[in-house]
Amino acid sequence: MAGGSGTRLWPLSRAGFPKQFLVLQGDSSLFQDAVQRVAKVRPAGFDTRAPLVVVHEDHRFLATDQLRELQLAPQALILEPVARNTAPAVSLAALAALEGGADPILVVTPADQTATAPDAFTAALGKAVELADGGLIALMGVPPTRPETGYGYVRSHTVGDAHAVVQQFVEKPDLATAERYLAEGGYHWNSGLFVMRASVWMAALERFRPDIATACRAAWAARKTDANFIRPGKAEFAAVPAESVDYAVLERCPGTEFGIGMVPLAAGWNDLGAWDSVWQVADKDAGGNATRGDVLLQDAANCLVHASGRLVSVVGLNDVVVVETPDAVMVSHRDRSQDVKKIVGALDSGG
Ligand code: GDD
Ligand code: MG
Repeated sequence: MAGGSGTRLWPLSRAGFPKQFLVLQGDSSLFQDAVQRVAKVRPAGFDTRAPLVVVHEDHRFLATDQLRELQLAPQALILEPVARNTAPAVSLAALAALEGGADPILVVTPADQTATAPDAFTAALGKAVELADGGLIALMGVPPTRPETGYGYVRSHTVGDAHAVVQQFVEKPDLATAERYLAEGGYHWNSGLFVMRASVWMAALERFRPDIATACRAAWAARKTDANFIRPGKAEFAAVPAESVDYAVLERCPGTEFGIGMVPLAAGWNDLGAWDSVWQVADKDAGGNATRGDVLLQDAANCLVHASGRLVSVVGLNDVVVVETPDAVMVSHRDRSQDVKKIVGALDSGG
């Protein structure tokens, strides 16, 4: 799923170049990292296929070029004419996978994450594939290390050392609630990575959101294919209700026949959704500062400073984010980095 807009990473993330295609650390983009991580999931006894990428049509060449850099030929790029959030994106991938009568297991990954322990990642996803082979939806749950309000939380109870059963989802709770979850225990972060048979996804969607299922089938039936690009029907896809996988399906599953197994993912996982997460995972100096580009600091601590072209200097500040680009500079408190999307919202509405 590489069709997000990444507004919380403004001003580096832009409509024409959203965050999943940015190189935020090292020398590959978040999208490239995600594709490579999942390509390594090859549990014994299963055949694997090349990735299916679901992306906004405006970014088809960005995605194609970045895959080419990896020398990785995708099965196809499914191009969304408009963004309808992740439930329709996964549904298009499921319908593509079901073509020709097969019913493959889908390993669904967001394209905006990091994992610092690749072997643990591969092993945990392998376990999830086995659960999915048994008919479950398997969700990767990350042991929480801070009361992050940018993630969803899942409450689960353990049924063995391999996995747990999800009882409840809470999408992006407020700080007080997140703090309580950490104190109480029994909660994991929803990594947004999940695994199930394509037919199980479509059956759950039919059950909980038949309107989305019907609209996606119509868009799929009206698709046009040119080379590696699959283009769902434009008018039909525009008519699909926008909803995330969490709201449309996953949070409705507990207590129904669509059980969700949770596999713990302790692999140094982070969603780089907001600047604070970028700071969390970055290499830092002794004062806790992470910098990129031409940056000069004096008496600064726990700051994130990204300079794209100009020299940026910060004096006597703690816990701030400064991001400089050719046409926009953003300064915020690190604790407020979830609110950067409000600036983008104001810009979009002409404010
Ligand atoms: N193809 C496609 N189309 N992809 C999309 C679309 C879309 O319309 N919208 C979002 N995506 C992609 C994004 O690019 C990202 O890789 C992924 O789907 C998840 O979307 P986000 O917008 O980043 O979601 P989030 O981070 O706010 O929340 C989700 O992920 C968190 C963990 O990373 C939720 O599932 C949370 O519960 C979860 O904790
Ligand atoms: Mg995200």
